[in-house]
Amino acid sequence: MADRVEIFDTTLRDGEQSPGASMNVHEKLQIAQQLERLGVDVIEAGFPVASQQEFDGVRQVAELVQRPRVAALARSVPKDIERAAQALEPAQRPVLHTFIATSDIHMEHKLRMDRKEVLEAIAKAVTTAKKLVARVEFSAEDATRSDLAFLAEVVKVAMDNGADVINLPDTVGYTTPAEIHRMFAYLISETPGAERLTFSSHNHNDLGLAVANALAAVQGGARQVECTINGIGERAGNTSLEEVVMAMRTRNDIYPYETGIVGDEIWNSSRLLSNLTGLAIPFNKPVVGRNAFAHEAGIHQHGMIANKATYEIMTPESVGRGRSELVLGKHSGRHGLAKRCADMGFELSEQEITQLYTKFIELTDRKKEVFEDDLRVLIASMRDETFETYRLVQLRTSGSDPAMALVKLYHGNVEYVETATGDGPVDAACRAIERVTGIEGRLTEFSIRAATPGKEALGEAHVLVAFDGRSTTGTGGSTDIVEAAVQAYVNAINKYLALQSTGEAPLPGQSKSAQN
Ligand code: KIV
Ligand code: ZN
Repeated sequence: MADRVEIFDTTLRDGEQSPGASMNVHEKLQIAQQLERLGVDVIEAGFPVASQQEFDGVRQVAELVQRPRVAALARSVPKDIERAAQALEPAQRPVLHTFIATSDIHMEHKLRMDRKEVLEAIAKAVTTAKKLVARVEFSAEDATRSDLAFLAEVVKVAMDNGADVINLPDTVGYTTPAEIHRMFAYLISETPGAERLTFSSHNHNDLGLAVANALAAVQGGARQVECTINGIGERAGNTSLEEVVMAMRTRNDIYPYETGIVGDEIWNSSRLLSNLTGLAIPFNKPVVGRNAFAHEAGIHQHGMIANKATYEIMTPESVGRGRSELVLGKHSGRHGLAKRCADMGFELSEQEITQLYTKFIELTDRKKEVFEDDLRVLIASMRDETFETYRLVQLRTSGSDPAMALVKLYHGNVEYVETATGDGPVDAACRAIERVTGIEGRLTEFSIRAATPGKEALGEAHVLVAFDGRSTTGTGGSTDIVEAAVQAYVNAINKYLALQSTGEAPLPGQSKSAQN
């Protein structure tokens, strides 16, 4: 049996289903580019039938990506499959991923179908998909709670109708390592012709077992693991890509499997996703958390000085971390800055570098040392300017009860100045912005964190704003945390306007609340 395990990344599909993780097309493309550099085998780009934005996201990822396969999800119904196939048209190596639930509880209560009907739906869906796209993956949703004998029939029907990959998800994060190992080993041994298929494992983390279950599935014969950067995904998330890959690498004696993942890109991928979605990485998160390689106890530090292997089972460099601590300053110059961005995996145009350099020099006036994490925040906010409609150029706040804010915004070349009062400086500034834009938003989530250590750290703000009919996220970065928050608010408004322009958010007067 081959010892190569394929990495199927579903950050842009299942990961994007995490509350607060929704990304616009531009953000999805940045992630897709990074996933290609990271060396994943498959990028699942979305669920095209869900909305026009999902469709466009999949199509544009399919146009952009060169080496990895690009997958699109579809329920086992013709309209989903046709839409997914259309979205995949530009892909060099498309995968149509179709699924239906196979557990009794899902079939009875959700699908209202019996086993025979589900087998017929699988046969029809896989046949239709195979006519449209060369490679088809079939998923038996809730496989780990499905009757094993029935699951064997499901696998056979999917294979006989042309499926290339059979995915057996632990949809609700219920299984255990011993159980999932048995399931894969049994189905592979009981399916004549199984060697023609790739078996895949997709695990949710409700009991904190997703990585352990994925590894056990591989030991049971799976040769594709579905996972996400930072483990994001429905509810408690999915198998974390960085953890499952580093487990195979660090314990290759127990898990003698190879992947195509470029370790050096793990840190960058994790940071980029967190910057774009605003989902913070817990400090103690294995492999990519801020503390994952920090040794606090004196006895540990002593051991590390004598020999790093005393307390370090993998090096920070092996996941691309060491580099991020190199400092940049005013004297690094435009060329040095451009080179560092290229090393971090950002392909910036000359115009973008000029724009970034201006922001970088402004930052070095306020902060002596600039780290890669600072640059990521600057790049994330700068690249969002593609969508920019309003630009915050000045903010002044004073007082506290009530607070007063003055904002100066540009809309194209037109300047607007407004003042307002509010419960605090951020509230006052948001009200002033509402007066300029005419768009009312409700801040439903707001987080601020330091991008790097130190008193003069760059504050990175993330907001989730509920507008009429739609919510959007926003990101901002500044050494002044109120300014960072207000930038993030403006960014969320700009994204809302972009959605209005594509018809994905209601225009003024068209929303349900306006009709009622
Ligand atoms: O968790 C799950 O079952 C899924 C399938 C659609 C693959 O995400
Ligand atoms: Zn899932």
